[in-house]
Amino acid sequence: MAVEVVCVASWNVDLIAHIASPLQRGQTQLAQGFERLPGGKGSNAAIAAARQGAQVGLIARIGGDDFGQMGLDLWAKEGIHSQFVVRGEGEVNGTALILVYADGDNSIAVYPGAGAGLSPVHVSAAQSLLSQARVVMASCEVPLAATRLAFEIAKSHGALTLLNPAPAMPLPADLWPCIDVLTPNEGELLMLAQATDVATAARTLLSRGVGAVVVTLGERGCALYRRDEAPLHVAGHAVKVVDTIGAGDTFTGTLAAALSQSCAWPEALRWANAAAALSTQARGAVTAMPSRTQVQTWLG
Ligand code: RIB
Repeated sequence: MAVEVVCVASWNVDLIAHIASPLQRGQTQLAQGFERLPGGKGSNAAIAAARQGAQVGLIARIGGDDFGQMGLDLWAKEGIHSQFVVRGEGEVNGTALILVYADGDNSIAVYPGAGAGLSPVHVSAAQSLLSQARVVMASCEVPLAATRLAFEIAKSHGALTLLNPAPAMPLPADLWPCIDVLTPNEGELLMLAQATDVATAARTLLSRGVGAVVVTLGERGCALYRRDEAPLHVAGHAVKVVDTIGAGDTFTGTLAAALSQSCAWPEALRWANAAAALSTQARGAVTAMPSRTQVQTWLG
């Protein structure tokens, strides 16, 4: 079966400690829990898309140790094509140090490890994969030069490009027009546009050449902004949050799956909102991601 969604992906091992509240500088707290789980915004979004029924392929660079094998085993189990995942022998894998607080919110420090070596050369080698895709997605955890080439190839084949701009960072002016859909959260959107309100920020990014801005707003849902169209707000879900790790990745991956299956915007956003809300109901990024059936059942 042809690949529908390609992810230029980061892969991290998440080292997660559960503590009561954010640390002060110089403070030590005893953690109430600890987990070592799969993560990385790219891998997470790819798995979210696969669980929603999309055929998914990865372009990634991972380390040579056991944690790299953990990724390969996970992708095989999820039915994700990983023939364009390369290994940097002797290099460490991406690692995320995550603190989760009692209210389910978190802080994350990411060391990209072998992922920092993902380059346009690796993307060029995956032309045959990219040429099948209907959606090509990435996050800011992978080098921008690799993302840019993947998006250029995607557009030359008529595929849709989708960027989750996390972690938020200044982007080069010539990357904006290569982005069909941008999925920032509220903080990332305001930072990228240097604005103080969501609508102004979204219009700023549209004026730089982005095709559509979908801002995620937590339990307030999400809003879609496009040039010359009224904004579309889709209500969220009030759920008791256990852990928000990977909620944004679940939203992005589900949206990619829905758009790759030609889903109309209102339905695609409703679907992505629901999957993201469900993903907050258990600990960890991938552990909590719902299947398509779970989302359909929950939405009734
Ligand atoms: O978005 C959550 C992810 O961010 C975690 O899985 C962690 O690896 C970091 O990349």
